[in-house]
Amino acid sequence: MQLFDALTTHDHEQLTLFHNREQNLRCIIAIHSTVLGPALGGVRMWPYAGEDEAIEEALHASRAMTYKAAIAGLNHGGAKAVIIGNPETDKTEPLLRALGRCIGSLNNRFIAMEDVDTTVDDMDQLQVETDAVIGAHGGSGDPSPFTALGTLHGIRACLNRKYGHTDIARASFAVQGAGGVGYHLARLLRDAGAKVFVTDINEQRIEALVDECGVEAVPMQQIYDVDANVFAPCAMGGIINEDTVPMLKCAIVAGGANNQLESNECGTLLERRGILYAPDYAINAGGLMNSALELDGYDPDEARRRVATIYSILTRIFEIAERENVPSWRAADLLAERRIAALGQIKLAHY
Ligand SMILES: NC(=O)c1ccc[n+]([C@@H]2O[C@H](COP(=O)([O-])OP(=O)(O)OC[C@H]3O[C@@H](n4cnc5c(N)ncnc54)[C@H](O)[C@@H]3O)[C@@H](O)[C@H]2O)c1
Repeated sequence: MQLFDALTTHDHEQLTLFHNREQNLRCIIAIHSTVLGPALGGVRMWPYAGEDEAIEEALHASRAMTYKAAIAGLNHGGAKAVIIGNPETDKTEPLLRALGRCIGSLNNRFIAMEDVDTTVDDMDQLQVETDAVIGAHGGSGDPSPFTALGTLHGIRACLNRKYGHTDIARASFAVQGAGGVGYHLARLLRDAGAKVFVTDINEQRIEALVDECGVEAVPMQQIYDVDANVFAPCAMGGIINEDTVPMLKCAIVAGGANNQLESNECGTLLERRGILYAPDYAINAGGLMNSALELDGYDPDEARRRVATIYSILTRIFEIAERENVPSWRAADLLAERRIAALGQIKLAHY
């Protein structure tokens, strides 16, 4: 990989390699942007096949975080830390403490958060060495309920766009995944009086939801063409693809999962079929809004207030899409890019 070419492609600010021989720490921290403020990013640990794969993930995910933080209205940029190693066998207290010291050396340009294969306990270890960590014990807690709540607000904006009302009870929903986000979303939808279909690989999770709030279980493949107004992906990425788009009977795709579109073209394909798409990183930003509040002094009421802004964020995205005749995924990118550009200009001014 030509490193500076890779950094130039998406205008990354910084790529740092940290090494500690005694602890076998090999960590890459990519900082995409600090224009809006200190860059937030997950710490991931994975036995990457090679350094290029690890660097590529760090570059890709840090840029995605810049967009997510920007669209969420946060005064933060995007970053990502990846540790090359097996989280089952290589994750030790000294390794995490060493990483904490590395993060501290970045002087608050990077603020670390939990991610795939890291835990709240791991954030505790980092926090022994640096304050540049959120999501440790005693912090803002599990983000999933806030991600689900934000998704609910986003769904209301979608209903308004498509049907001219925001009444959840007048719509039906197909929820894919009953984990942290899907479980809470299904409950919120049922509490609001909606008809809800749910699927999950894990049958116990489905049974629990059926018993608790009367959702209807459907087999995994049927979730795409079940007769519901809204398809809410809350499991994994890539589920909007050339195979699934023709199957969908819904009028709206709006869910909490990351990276729902296999490619941007699939988002365009959805719109050609007349299906409204809520850009994933905007509608699922509630968990991030909640976690980031730790840096201002955490307050759950304030977190709920901020998460409710996802309604107006989605509304603005749909307005841009209509006015500029672009798909909603592109309108979301434009909204994020314009906020970064405008606030970047303010910082350049010499008042
Ligand atoms: N947790 C958050 O706050 C948060 C925030 C933003 C985005 N997300 C994204 O939302 C999605 C779900 O996150 P989560 O925290 O709920 O994860 P989770 O692991 O708690 O839940 C995922 C659920 O999906 C199920 N699942 C996996 N494959 C499936 C399949 N093929 N069909 C149906 N169900 C399947 C799993 O059994 C599990 O119950 C992910 O894409 C995640 O990146 C989560």
